[in-house]
Amino acid sequence: GGESHIHDVDFSFEGPFGSFDQNQLQRGLKVYTEVCSACHGMSYVPLRTLGDEGGPNLPDDQVRAYAENYEVFDPELDDYRTAKPTDHFPGSNVENAPDLSLMAKKRAGFHGPYGTGINQLVKGMGGPEYIVAILTGYEEAPECAPEDFPGSYNTAFSAGGYPPECLDENGKHTVPGSWIAMAQPLWGEDVEFDDGHSNELHHEAEDVAAFLMWAAEPKMMARKQAGLAGVIFLTVLSVLLYLTNKRLWAPIK
Ligand code: HEM
Repeated sequence: GGESHIHDVDFSFEGPFGSFDQNQLQRGLKVYTEVCSACHGMSYVPLRTLGDEGGPNLPDDQVRAYAENYEVFDPELDDYRTAKPTDHFPGSNVENAPDLSLMAKKRAGFHGPYGTGINQLVKGMGGPEYIVAILTGYEEAPECAPEDFPGSYNTAFSAGGYPPECLDENGKHTVPGSWIAMAQPLWGEDVEFDDGHSNELHHEAEDVAAFLMWAAEPKMMARKQAGLAGVIFLTVLSVLLYLTNKRLWAPIK
């Protein structure tokens, strides 16, 4: 019991040839900025990386203008000042809201079957899918729960509080998920996208999840390219070595 089901999402960055969708990252940045950053921070992510190719790829002036939305504490001034592109995103504003810099790699959406990890091999680790599932997993609390049970009922969150009233006689969960300390942050139509893309709940959730994947692994494109070049190189090398070997031993055989 208590198992929640996380749906695979066909993200553009998956697979050996996958890459981040620049427009999606810019939409996700907007959701992050207008909604999530009210509570969460991303203190490991430098603001200047918003200009990275393969990332949101904002022009320099927009990166500078974006940085100016934030105040950071400067230990040299011993005071707060307007942020510059060389600063990082601020940390969380709300004490129990976790930093989101690495969240897309900290959580896994897929496991098994039977501990083999085959699901992860096929669908990826599922970090961004997990985030989508949390953001779209809010439901009305089930009837078994007392009305004043703290938190919001979320079918995809398993680490939260769980009312004993919703356990069966064997101590098993009778409803999926648990109660999370984050009130439902997205409802659909929370932000207007500049590219006119749909702002239905599941689109907003996928866009911000893709953005958080980029934040957690900004060099994914470079890594994939290097990996692919390595595989091609090793394939060619194996063929050449095989042919060399044949030739060397031909007179002896
Ligand atoms: C937890 C994402 C908005 C407060 C989390 C977690 C994620 C997340 C991925 C971690 C869940 C886990 O531990 O597995 C987001 C995103 C947001 C958003 C993408 C914007 C769309 C907000 C807002 C608030 C908030 C606006 C405050 C009003 C919290 C708190 C937790 C949390 C308090 C800890 C929950 C717990 O451990 O029970 N959020 N969040 N979040 N978030 Fe948010």
